[in-house]
Amino acid sequence: MQLSLLLLASDRPAAAQLAQALAAPGHGVTVVTSAADLLAAAPRYSLVVIDGVPAGTTAAAVIAELRGAGAGPVTPVLAIAQTADLEERIALLEADADDVLTRPFDPAELAARVEALALRAQHASLPGSRSRATEPGRRVIAVFSPKGGVGTTTIATNLALIAAERQPGATLLMDLDLSFGQVASHLNLTPRQTILELARDVAAQRDPELLRTYAIHHTGSLQVLAAPPGPGFTSLVTPQHVEQIVSAAADAYETVIIDAGTALDERAMTVFGRCDTTIIPVIPEIPALNSVHIMFEQLADLGTMGGSILFVLNRAFARDLLKRNDIESALGAKIAAELPYDPLVYLKAVNEGVPVVLGSSRSVPAERLRALADVVLGPVSGAAPAPAPKERRGLFGRR
Ligand SMILES: Nc1ncnc2c1ncn2[C@@H]1O[C@H](COP(=O)(O)OP(=O)(O)O)[C@@H](O)[C@H]1O
Ligand SMILES: [Mg+2]
Repeated sequence: MQLSLLLLASDRPAAAQLAQALAAPGHGVTVVTSAADLLAAAPRYSLVVIDGVPAGTTAAAVIAELRGAGAGPVTPVLAIAQTADLEERIALLEADADDVLTRPFDPAELAARVEALALRAQHASLPGSRSRATEPGRRVIAVFSPKGGVGTTTIATNLALIAAERQPGATLLMDLDLSFGQVASHLNLTPRQTILELARDVAAQRDPELLRTYAIHHTGSLQVLAAPPGPGFTSLVTPQHVEQIVSAAADAYETVIIDAGTALDERAMTVFGRCDTTIIPVIPEIPALNSVHIMFEQLADLGTMGGSILFVLNRAFARDLLKRNDIESALGAKIAAELPYDPLVYLKAVNEGVPVVLGSSRSVPAERLRALADVVLGPVSGAAPAPAPKERRGLFGRR
């Protein structure tokens, strides 16, 4: 695709270099040095690139003027951050740039971002490109734990890989552990785009086809929407974004599996409100069970978990002092599946970025994870998932 690009740059030598890189794939590039020239010309171009603004104005002001300028389709904006400084990137995203690329960057990455932004803008302006109603049979499954280190990400990633194996291309794994999301690392992926960029793209939050362009492909069959690169970005993904993203994802994929992390905040409540099943991993330790107890107390004030709740006993060990029965009495609910403690298989999996069901597919942990998938997703034939225990009243009643 050949595009017409408009580049605003305040530093001439840097601009010449950038213009050359932008033109390399065959695009036409026009360079302007003032905000007024940019505003006048922008509607005639497919994409605006802002690489530093002249003194006396800010990128935020320029983008705001561009957005307010008028009728017709809005030209997408790619902003170039001059440093790897988190503050600068956040400021540009807050200024409403559609995407931000940080110097230094690879020319191939620049070309890919430009093309993706232009494609999205084109698609968003097409009539009929809006979301469908959620179809029956589609499902959203969240994995959440009030405590870290209990296997939330491990369960979400392995379950998603099993679902993707059964329905190639129709499963999305979404990392909503926004501060310290580890899904990409468990899968050895280096995300070029994350949920952060998706949260900036209003059109993609409404349009399942556009939303798909933000997912990264893993092993060809699983699609992954990665978490932001670090905790500094969390506030830029609001509960409203989460609501729209989960809803569009449920339209775009048959199965959406969400690593919902550990924060019991408004975003988590939004996820619970949208999901059919919530999996809560527990480990046979009093502090971990206590935190589940506290979570349900808090939930009494905040609202409920949507759909059915499945407790999964992870890190189960034959010589555990707390037996499965004790844990079930403490939870006031049945344990839906048990995953054995296995230091070697899991250690290898996280260190290599190859989850257990792929890297040690014949191991007992992998077998148990597949049994959990049968409970959550239904057996391979595609039958409905087994009914989940919902009773929670006796939680810690015996303590
Ligand atoms: N059943 C298990 N046996 C041994 N190690 C496990 C088991 N389940 C998870 N782990 C390991 O525990 C660590 C934390 O798991 P993770 O899924 O990242 O937890 P969370 O997402 O709840 O913080 C990882 O290194 C993982 O490989
Ligand atoms: Mg995790």
